[in-house]
Amino acid sequence: MDNVTVFEHPLIQHKTTVLRSKDTPNKEFRELVEEITMLMCYEALRDLPLEEVEIETPLKVSKQKMLKGKKLAVVPILRAGLGMVNGMLNLIPSAKVGHIGMYRDEETMQPQEYYCKLPADIDKRLIVVVDPMLATGGSAIDAIGQIKSYGGTQIKFLCLIAAPEGIKALSEAHPDVQIYCANVDEGLNEKCYIVPGLGDAGDRIFGTK
Ligand code: PRP
Ligand code: URA
Repeated sequence: MDNVTVFEHPLIQHKTTVLRSKDTPNKEFRELVEEITMLMCYEALRDLPLEEVEIETPLKVSKQKMLKGKKLAVVPILRAGLGMVNGMLNLIPSAKVGHIGMYRDEETMQPQEYYCKLPADIDKRLIVVVDPMLATGGSAIDAIGQIKSYGGTQIKFLCLIAAPEGIKALSEAHPDVQIYCANVDEGLNEKCYIVPGLGDAGDRIFGTK
């Protein structure tokens, strides 16, 4: 699928495997989420436009390349997406950060939105929505729908682990959104958890279970 990029870089693969282990403690889990996000961000933004600028080195005036005034926004889907924000900001410190609060109803598995605060000029920004898990796709579909209702148009979705069901649903709902992930897993279990997955990403980041 043209709209899906799976990162095969050995560092991303290795770190994601450590992340999955049930024996990885919360502190290391958080650090890994940040590191993997940083590596994925580097790859996912390789199409950022550049412009030539004139600078003066200690030796001479020279034309060199810099990012072409592209404004970015990072939008984590709460809670687990918060774990990816610093990984993004390490590489793009001038990005603005919006937040969308979303949780899955444990009975229906339908996403429930409880918070939304986006940068005022969201319509002018390249938006990277981050959430470690793309399971049924419901949370990502609604979050991106919300961003579009505020005028967002250029949107990328970055997750660590995706289920085929989530990729299909998100691609159908928002075919214009490029999806980036480290792994595509087998599928969902009866509780809509990704298998083999890594469990509940929010709980593992914040130590709530
Ligand atoms: C998790 C995850 C995604 C969502 C994915 O969040 O971080 O947002 O589930 O599932 P979906 O693709 O089926 O919608 P959760 O609802 O557990 O909330 P939390 O991050 O607050 O724990
Ligand atoms: N949310 C998670 O945190 N993990 C899953 O496997 C599915 C949804």
